[in-house]
Amino acid sequence: TLLPGEVDSLSKSAQEMFIDGDEPPPRYIVKESKFGSIDSSPLSAPIPIIDISLLASSSSFASDEELEKLKSALSSWGCFQAIGHGISDSYLNKVREAAKQFFALPVEEKKKYSRAAGEGEGWGGDVIVSEKQVLDWIDRLALKVLPEDERKLNLWPENPTNFREILHEYALKINSILDILFKATAKSLDLDENVFLNQFGERALLIARFNFYPPCPRPDQVLGLKPHSDKSGMTVLLQDKEVEGLHVLKDDEWVKVPIIPNALVVNVGDQMQIMTNGIIRSPVHRAVTNPERLRISVAVSNEAEPEREIGPADGLVDENRPRLYKTVKNYAAINYECFQKGQIAIDEVKI
Ligand code: SIN
Ligand code: FE2
Repeated sequence: TLLPGEVDSLSKSAQEMFIDGDEPPPRYIVKESKFGSIDSSPLSAPIPIIDISLLASSSSFASDEELEKLKSALSSWGCFQAIGHGISDSYLNKVREAAKQFFALPVEEKKKYSRAAGEGEGWGGDVIVSEKQVLDWIDRLALKVLPEDERKLNLWPENPTNFREILHEYALKINSILDILFKATAKSLDLDENVFLNQFGERALLIARFNFYPPCPRPDQVLGLKPHSDKSGMTVLLQDKEVEGLHVLKDDEWVKVPIIPNALVVNVGDQMQIMTNGIIRSPVHRAVTNPERLRISVAVSNEAEPEREIGPADGLVDENRPRLYKTVKNYAAINYECFQKGQIAIDEVKI
């Protein structure tokens, strides 16, 4: 058997795999999926839209109505398009541009920031945990932004020159939006507004992931990112400006998440599904590939302090709604172990 990271050291960047017009290497070809075939066309159902500025305001009528909308979006879809978040379109483009410039560097240059075997942070292709694993057509740069004293600055690109500054600034802007969302979600469930934030803890993690999907000659056979639910509390995703590719599973059907100018996509992660005792759901989603165009997305998500126990909030457990999940520590590690074994992490913590 292989130790974590042993196989990973054989990992090649998806960009290095790409040869124009060629067939993708067999290791990338999806042969079977419990979520239906790759090329079945996704539906175009309307994803809920939530105005963050109305959630943040004091309890006016508009805000109550928006809280109701938030609760319904999170319980039925587990995701929504966020507008009114206060980040300008030109700033979002600056973030996209910095990501684009980094990924446009020669592979040799990016290797300076390579993810070490067995580590989560840094630049590289799909994390390989077994010989049999079907690989995703993705290169990713993952970096911890908070707690600030845990930053691995040697993995933070210095090219483009404004990359570090933008990452720091953008991630903190998203962290403020996450704060609003956790408080609003708590209020919408008639709980004290800090219940979730308290569970994540003072030293909660904030992680940024820059995703780069090179053009892929066989989008009918290869996925950018295989179906998964996030291990986070919540994730805020900045989509590519022009190239779509995100699908979310709703009532067993794949639904396209369209690009809405200036909107951010918010999705619930497993940790919030646990803390809300399953009232809000962490949706399964995937990224498909594109034959001609590269696609870039930037995800920022939070996770509870690893040593802290998280579990269903008290107010959400009663006779009518029995406790669905155990109290767990270090959910990220549980998630990683399950990934290695091909199991679904949230099922492991069910009662
Ligand atoms: C993700 O699930 O982390 C990213 C999805 C995307 O690139 O759209
Ligand atoms: Fe995801």
